Amino acid sequence: MQTKFGIRRNFARRAGTYDAHAQVQRYMAAELLGLSAEAVRQARRILEVGCGTGYLTRELRRLNAQALLVAVDLDPALLQAARQKLNGDTRTAWLAADGEAITRGRFDLIISNSAFQWFSQPAETLANYARCLTPGGRLAFTAVGPGTFPELRRSLEQAAAELKTAGPDLAAARFPGDSDWQRLLEQAGFAHIRVQRHTLTVYFPSPQAFLKSLQATGATNPVPRPLSPRLFRAMLTAYHARFALNGAIPATYELIWAEARK
Ligand SMILES: C[S@@+](CC[C@H](N)C(=O)[O-])C[C@H]1O[C@@H](n2cnc3c(N)ncnc32)[C@H](O)[C@@H]1O
Repeated sequence: MQTKFGIRRNFARRAGTYDAHAQVQRYMAAELLGLSAEAVRQARRILEVGCGTGYLTRELRRLNAQALLVAVDLDPALLQAARQKLNGDTRTAWLAADGEAITRGRFDLIISNSAFQWFSQPAETLANYARCLTPGGRLAFTAVGPGTFPELRRSLEQAAAELKTAGPDLAAARFPGDSDWQRLLEQAGFAHIRVQRHTLTVYFPSPQAFLKSLQATGATNPVPRPLSPRLFRAMLTAYHARFALNGAIPATYELIWAEARK
């Protein structure tokens, strides 16, 4: 699938720079672990979807030394980085696969940090995950929401209007929101559903620095729609003029956290 190929390619290209730029993803992982630590400690079999370079995987292992852990990611290069981080851990199985294709297994906990927003079939995937959980088992995940990067969206809209051209959509606009996840979890048959959202604003010295950092994490549009140089320059100018404050520009994330039980 074109989009999934693009997601994998974007993240794989950034395997070497991801860790240095993934502050927001680390923040999300810390929040996820803070809220799900007990479920992690109690689980005997854990599936982690979209493990990337293994930041959350290592924390899961710190919290639970005994559990059998299956860590899945679309890309083998990322899995290799994760495997190195866990330093020969023999109770972790590494699987290069589409996490949406997992339809069988027996897990007490399915957990994921900042990956579910990329799903192409979230309804089917959540229903499969519900089937893979043991009775009382938990699903816990964070995801980036559709309200992410409003500053970039408005700057693009302004630049496109000024140049009388069409601006491209941001990938984030198509991500499910908190009420979508609530509905999807209900439809998949989960109980005790809790979904929360909040925003987090991070600051960069310039719009260019923000875009560079975003690129370094691979979290860019899976189907590239390059801006014309004119539109790109106009967007940078608009971003700076509208949003710069004391020499810094903001980039706001909408972060979603969800937990549910079978
Ligand atoms: C933003 S990174 C997060 C990585 C890691 N969870 C962390 O906390 O640092 C998103 C990861 O999800 C993976 N991913 C996206 N869609 C996926 C899918 N359908 N199946 C497996 N992995 C997927 C990407 O390859 C990427 O490594």
